[in-house]
Amino acid sequence: MNILMLSAEFAPYSKTGGLGDAVPGLTQALVAAGHEVRVVTPRYAGRYPDCEPVHQFQTPLPGYEVAVNIHCLDNLVLVQADAFETEHIYYGDNTDAHRFAVMCSAGLRYCQEVGFRPDILHCNDWHSTLAIDYLHHLFSWDKLFDNTRTALSIHNGGYQGWCHENWQQLVVHPDLARDHINLLRYGIACADTVTTVSPTYAKELSQIFLADLQGKKITGIVNGVDPTIWSPQLDVNLATNYTTSDWTEGRQHNRQVLMEAAGLKDKQQPLFGLVSRFTHQKGIDLLIACLPHFLQTSNAAFIALGNGDADLEENLLHIEQAYPDQVHFHRGYDETLAHRLMAGCDFLVMPSRFEPCGLTQLYAMGYGTIPIVRKTGGLNDTVRCESTQNGQGTGFVFEHFDESGLLWGLKQASQLFSQKSHLHEVIERCMGENFSWQRQAAIYTEEYTRVNPSAVSKVSIPLTARQQPDAHTPEAEALDKLVQVSAA
Ligand code: ADP
Ligand code: GLC
Repeated sequence: MNILMLSAEFAPYSKTGGLGDAVPGLTQALVAAGHEVRVVTPRYAGRYPDCEPVHQFQTPLPGYEVAVNIHCLDNLVLVQADAFETEHIYYGDNTDAHRFAVMCSAGLRYCQEVGFRPDILHCNDWHSTLAIDYLHHLFSWDKLFDNTRTALSIHNGGYQGWCHENWQQLVVHPDLARDHINLLRYGIACADTVTTVSPTYAKELSQIFLADLQGKKITGIVNGVDPTIWSPQLDVNLATNYTTSDWTEGRQHNRQVLMEAAGLKDKQQPLFGLVSRFTHQKGIDLLIACLPHFLQTSNAAFIALGNGDADLEENLLHIEQAYPDQVHFHRGYDETLAHRLMAGCDFLVMPSRFEPCGLTQLYAMGYGTIPIVRKTGGLNDTVRCESTQNGQGTGFVFEHFDESGLLWGLKQASQLFSQKSHLHEVIERCMGENFSWQRQAAIYTEEYTRVNPSAVSKVSIPLTARQQPDAHTPEAEALDKLVQVSAA
């Protein structure tokens, strides 16, 4: 089937977190399964190889026409526009809704340009939900989209795309008359199917967005791992590659290199790692509250990589200064170090308040690093607690978001570290887990087929054979009205 995927992030070019990994992972698996996928994403400045634009047009949003160049890189459709003449993926303010509106309208306009007939328009997070509005109210005259159904995947319900300023300019739907718009809620209400990235998070979201769902359910589909990028066998960032059947020396060498670079002495102590955005979601504040006590009562070492909230960064820097022999904090974003931490640490800490899926714990397990996680969202669905499921566990899962919960996890891990044969069993169980995108892509396909059972076509329809907009359709009249309102 033909799938038009829209995403604000696409690794390795643009990534701030898991969305950047998840979309290419799913795309690749869908392509491998025989689907025709085009991914529309912004061409942020300085992040893509130089190439000539292949299409040039104005986005057709009345009152907000924007000049766009389209660059193509394999199946990536890169939208170049003034809004993306920055390497910043997000500004984090009202302007983001305006920027991503350009991606949405350009994506559909591109389909017209090349005659790509999407069976599924797949939106990821709030950034791309306006495409559903445009599909239904701006492009509906075009037969190309007659068979297009819409899917929304929520990667993070914590970001909802609130827009308070000039949002009327972005939305075509004439019924929306409020003083703000919440683009995630809009997408949830309008998409033919709504998915999220784990079954537990699906339950959590279903409560929050009960009214917006209007009787639809949210399907939880756990993310996968791209083994060409995130596997200890193939990872180009590691000091030494290793396999799931021969890992002891490889992991030991990666640990030595990691600790040396971090300025920490390898005393064969348990080594804990953290790779995270520093936001409220991730529970870094809880870790900061627990660490001093934990470090005083154990010889453990701790290496953290991350950035974000300035107070959290400051607090962790203070802990590093107070415990220089045990703690190293690399403040910033560093893709190579993220990979090295996965291969060199014994344990990975993820004390999230909420976690839609979490890829970091999946990567850690693949490298034989045991996760210590809070029982929430995808962490609950992907990590089995060794303390309660002795013989089947793949990590430590603490239930309550409080200091005693996290300290319990850290202590359980330290204890396990001292029991070598038990430790090795858990490491091997982690490495034996299978988080393949192939299996997950098949579940997405089922969902696509459920909302669009007739989606079989890969046929393009030339523009000449399609209906031109009629000035007297209700859509055209609504558009006219909108132009007049925006011009006034
Ligand atoms: P989220 O998407 O909420 O940030 P995930 O666990 O799904 O959480 O994905 C995080 C991704 O971002 C992982 O690939 C992780 O390695 C990466 N990452 C997060 N922070 C950093 C950082 N400071 N440097 C490098 N990579 C990071
Ligand atoms: C989000 C979530 C994370 C998830 C990622 C990819 O950023 O916070 O849990 O793994 O998206 O779906």
